[in-house]
Order: sequence, then structure tokens, then C-alpha cells
Amino acid sequence: MPTSYIKISNLYKVFGEQSSDGVTKLKQGLSKDELMNRYQVSVGLSDINLEIKQGETFVVMGLSGSGKSTLIRHFNRLIEPSEGTIEIDGIDICSLDKKQIQDLRRHKMSMVFQRFGLLPHRTVIQNVAYGLKIQGISQSDWKPKAQHWIDIVGLNGYENQYPNQLSGGQQQRVGLARALCTDPDILLMDEAFSALDPLIRSEMQQQLKDLQQKLHKTIIFITHDLDEALRLGDRIAILKDGELVQQGKPVDILLNPATDYVASFVQDINRGRALTVRHAYLAQEGLLETLTVAEAIKQIQQLALSEMAVVTSEQTYIANVTLHQLKEATNSNAHIGELLNTQAHDQVFANIEQSIESIMPSVLGSKRQLPVTEQDGRYVGVLQKEQLAKLLDGM
Ligand SMILES: Nc1ncnc2c1ncn2[C@@H]1O[C@H](COP(=O)(O)OP(=O)(O)OP(=O)(O)O)[C@@H](O)[C@H]1O
Ligand SMILES: [Mg+2]
Repeated sequence: MPTSYIKISNLYKVFGEQSSDGVTKLKQGLSKDELMNRYQVSVGLSDINLEIKQGETFVVMGLSGSGKSTLIRHFNRLIEPSEGTIEIDGIDICSLDKKQIQDLRRHKMSMVFQRFGLLPHRTVIQNVAYGLKIQGISQSDWKPKAQHWIDIVGLNGYENQYPNQLSGGQQQRVGLARALCTDPDILLMDEAFSALDPLIRSEMQQQLKDLQQKLHKTIIFITHDLDEALRLGDRIAILKDGELVQQGKPVDILLNPATDYVASFVQDINRGRALTVRHAYLAQEGLLETLTVAEAIKQIQQLALSEMAVVTSEQTYIANVTLHQLKEATNSNAHIGELLNTQAHDQVFANIEQSIESIMPSVLGSKRQLPVTEQDGRYVGVLQKEQLAKLLDGM
């Protein structure tokens, strides 16, 4: 299995009669505008290089006209490149003949469109089963499969409705069910949620995330909305005038925008929603519960702290202890675990994968720093108000 499932190398797309000249001129350094004004050729993509891993959600983002649709249409060869290669699962898809391309489109990938692209005179179940029917699969086989996906996207009971009897959100659920029904490895989604109103859009994003946790498809998702990109993308590539200006994990894009163009997207972003506790916490060891009060005082002073977490030998968090509390203890040979046993522990935790936004009320409502735990419950450090303020403020 190659590490990159989809690999795009030196991809150029220039529209117009003199497209190969256009590529040469692009390589000589002429801009998209110059090529249009002087030679009437339209630059779709310029020297794109990217690798997509199997099972990741890869978001392509950019303003209108930046080349997003042009890029995604290369994956299923709806568009032929002017130059460059597109490899999927080790195969150069430009070397495939018509029949092989048809197989690729029918079995390996499906597309979800912005305007849903449903067949108006077919019912929901017929639309969902469409891909299976054109594969020549019999009704007794396609029906239960289509029903399965209809149930998953929450449209049970709507099987025999027609698209125009459904809301936009419901129509796109049909679009999603149809795309998933052939069990493709790759989902191509071009602005799939852009036509939906904000609440439905957010529901669909969550549904896609939930589905993806189980399905592990390779998803190429196109959007002009950075919020959506941050929410869905394992990685994000940003296009401008056909060029790839930055690619990286959401946090890379958010905290280190490579150009002013990227920064202009980032500035309106709600960081609290996009970042998690992992980006904000301070790694810190805990004090073992078996330490004596005297040992604990020594350790806390060595680290120049006034408060630390006490943990079990398995690193499970018990409670915080302050230097003041330790100094008040009458028996310096007592274990700190015993000292804490006499107190009520109602400490709130921060889970490392939690969004900053969701933990904010607890941070603000607590006098102490919050203990941070990994998913498996191990204590790993603390979340402090100051750290959070810095991160939300833009460093
Ligand atoms: N068939 C075509 N013929 C000529 N030029 C084209 C064609 N398709 C796309 N282009 C040009 O390529 C560039 C990129 O277009 P593309 O549709 O990929 O942008 P986009 O990022 O998807 O935009 P949007 O957000 O509006 O969908 C544009 O300048 C466009 O005019
Ligand atoms: Mg487009």
C-alpha cells in the first residue's frame, strides 16, 4: 500500500485553444491575469503538487475562480490535465482507457454535488440505488442496500417521495446516500453543503464526521468556507488563482498562515471552535500519591509552582494540592494521598480533544487551573487561563 493514496504531480490546466503555449508561458512566470488579457487563455491550475492519504478528509479551499472545481474534476477525469500526473492507488489515471475510466467512476469513487444533482422523476430510493442499478445489480440486491443508506442518513419513510417534495437538506442527504451506496473508496464533494442554510449545513457536517469515523473513506471536500474546512479537514489545501498557496493541518493554517491571502481567511475564524485543549495545555507531571508531604513540598518548590496535580501510579488524576495546603499539614511523613482523602474532590477536567470553546466556561468558572486528561483518562497537564488567552488572542 503506497503511503499516499492519491498523488498529484506538477499538474497544470489551462483552458483555451493555445493551452500548451499557455503552460509554457505560465512556467515563464506570466500571471493568470496576463495570460487572459494578452492571450485569452484561462488558467485553471498551475503546478499543483499534493498527496492525499487513504482514509483522510482532505479539504480544498479558495475563493471563487481559484480552481477548486477544476482540481476535483481531474480526480475522475471529467477534465484532462494540460500537463502533469494524477495517480490514484498507484495507477496513473491518465493512462486508463474509456472502459477503465467508467469502472473507476462506478466503483472506486462517487461525487456529491452542490446542487444535489438528483434525478427529478425518480423516487428517493431509485435515486439512492442509481449507481448500483447502472452496475447491473438486480433489484433484490440493490433494494436492501439503498434502504440501509436511506436509514443511515435519516430519511426512513421518505423512500417513495420525489426530490421536489424534499427540503434542500433532505435532498443532499439523498445525494450523500447515493454516493455511499456503491461503497466507493473515494468521495468527491464539490461545495456539497454550500447551498444549505447554516443550521442544516452544520448538521450535515456533523453527520459526515460521524459517518467518516466509521467508514474511513478518502474524502476530497471542496469549500470556500474556512470554518467548514477547519471542522471537516484532517488537512487543508488553499488555492489562489490556480496555485496552491498553503497546505497543512487545520492548526498549521490557523496559527501560521503562509500568505496575506490565507491570513485574510483566518482573521474571521472562531479559534475557540477550531482549536482543542491539545493546542493550549501545558504538559506537566503529577505528584505521586505515595509521596510524603515533605517530598511533595520539595518537588513543588523545585518546579517553582504553587499547586500541582496528585496522581495514582497509573497516572489517574486524584485532585490538586497547593503548596499552602502541604505546608499546613501537621505530619510531614504522611502520604499526600491520605491528606487529600479528607477533602471533597469536585474538580472539573479538560479532555484533550475538547474544543476550547466548550471548556471555556469551566476555565472561567474555576479558580484553579484545570487538569487535562488524555482520552484514556491519564493525567497529562494543566490548562491555564493565561495560556488560553494568548492562544485566542492570536499569539
Ligand atoms: N471550461 C472552462 N473554460 C474556460 N475556463 C474555465 C473553464 N472551467 C474553469 N475555467 C476557469 O478556471 C478558473 C477556475 O475555475 P473553477 O471553476 O475551478 O473555480 P472554483 O474555485 O471552483 O470557483 P467557484 O468557487 O466559483 O466554484 C476560472 O478562472 C475559470 O474561469
Ligand atoms: Mg467550483
